[in-house]
Amino acid sequence: MTVERLATAEDLDGVLAIEDASFNNPTTRQWYEAELQRPEVCHIYVLRTPDCPVAAFCAFWRVTDQIHINNLAVRPELRGQGLASRLLAGVLAEAARLGVASATLEVRRSNTPALRLYAKAHFVEAGVRRNYYTQPVEDALVLVRHALG
Ligand SMILES: CC(C)(COP(=O)(O)OP(=O)(O)OC[C@H]1O[C@@H](n2cnc3c(N)ncnc32)[C@H](O)[C@@H]1OP(=O)(O)O)[C@@H](O)C(=O)NCCC(=O)NCCS
Repeated sequence: MTVERLATAEDLDGVLAIEDASFNNPTTRQWYEAELQRPEVCHIYVLRTPDCPVAAFCAFWRVTDQIHINNLAVRPELRGQGLASRLLAGVLAEAARLGVASATLEVRRSNTPALRLYAKAHFVEAGVRRNYYTQPVEDALVLVRHALG
């Protein structure tokens, strides 16, 4: 398995397929295409397995010494096998290599698999955004991981 930066149009198709399968209001192709125009800020990494070129992905913004993880998801049929843990470890290692000190993200309060994933990676709760999500309406927990380097 490898964690690599998104490189091709096929990679983007793979990311969008996971988006569609994972979220009620998936992020659009237009958003990704616009974000890919500013690679110094927008970083998208994919997890490749021997059988699947895009088994999972993670998109984050890098601003000075912080990253903000916008999206992270695994192909539904490949969940529960440690792929997200592997991807997140690779992304945080890459961020540390870039000199990043901390990582933040928002997550639905009810998203137990994601909360366990982030807790394992030493993220801690930093706040709550009331009714942040739609479809369905739900609070977001703001998580932060300090001391990446
Ligand atoms: C959240 C998500 C990325 C986890 O991916 P994954 O590859 O299944 O995660 P891992 O196998 O690395 O497991 C990570 C942790 O979640 C737990 N977990 C995985 N699936 C679970 C489930 N259905 N219920 C409860 N816990 C679960 C695992 O047990 C593991 O914790 P543990 O090792 O302490 O037991 C995946 O479920 C997903 O893509 N969900 C839809 C998109 C999403 O919600 N993304 C997060 C946005 S913030």
